[in-house]
Amino acid sequence: MTRFFIKKWHWILLAAAACLAGLQLTNPPRTNPPVKSDFLAETKPPAGIATCLRAACYDCHSHETIWPWYSRVAPMAWLVAADVNEGREHFNFSEWPKADAGSAAKKLDRINEVLDYREMPPKKYTLIHTDARLTEAQRKQIMEWTDAEAQKLRSQMPAP
Ligand code: HEC
Repeated sequence: MTRFFIKKWHWILLAAAACLAGLQLTNPPRTNPPVKSDFLAETKPPAGIATCLRAACYDCHSHETIWPWYSRVAPMAWLVAADVNEGREHFNFSEWPKADAGSAAKKLDRINEVLDYREMPPKKYTLIHTDARLTEAQRKQIMEWTDAEAQKLRSQMPAP
């Protein structure tokens, strides 16, 4: 068996390269559908907060994904597309419920929650995207703003 690999290694390498090349044909599409209602445009946070959220969250949670070069290369292409699809499904800054104060307030609460638990942005993402790292001060600032914004929305709602 070992003899077989030693004698045929260049064919095995070639077959592996061909498989990898073939895999590239199956790369998932890199989509950016039209933005329906942008969170930052609707809620107008202070510029510093807007910059942070765009850098730390928008690649996975909006229709304005900046697709990195490695998202063209299988198997990374699959991992990146899966993150973006799942991210958009769970929380989408490009579909902000501007006409529904209750729903918008709940979404602000969820941003606050994932920051509080340090769940987002994911570590595997900030490892590469250093500009997406949030300092403690930035985290606090965003959380205070989401809290105040959610309260403001709730105070505008008619009593249940
Ligand atoms: C690398 C991609 C990526 C980045 C960057 C990212 N997220 Fe996520 N996020 C996900 C994925 C995938 C999920 C769904 C699975 C999960 O909960 O881990 C998710 C889930 C969420 C949820 C939903 C949790 C729930 O209650 O279901 C919220 C809210 C959220 N992210 C907010 C954020 C915020 C705010 C940022 C920026 C500070 C951010 N995310 C950055 C990928 C990302």
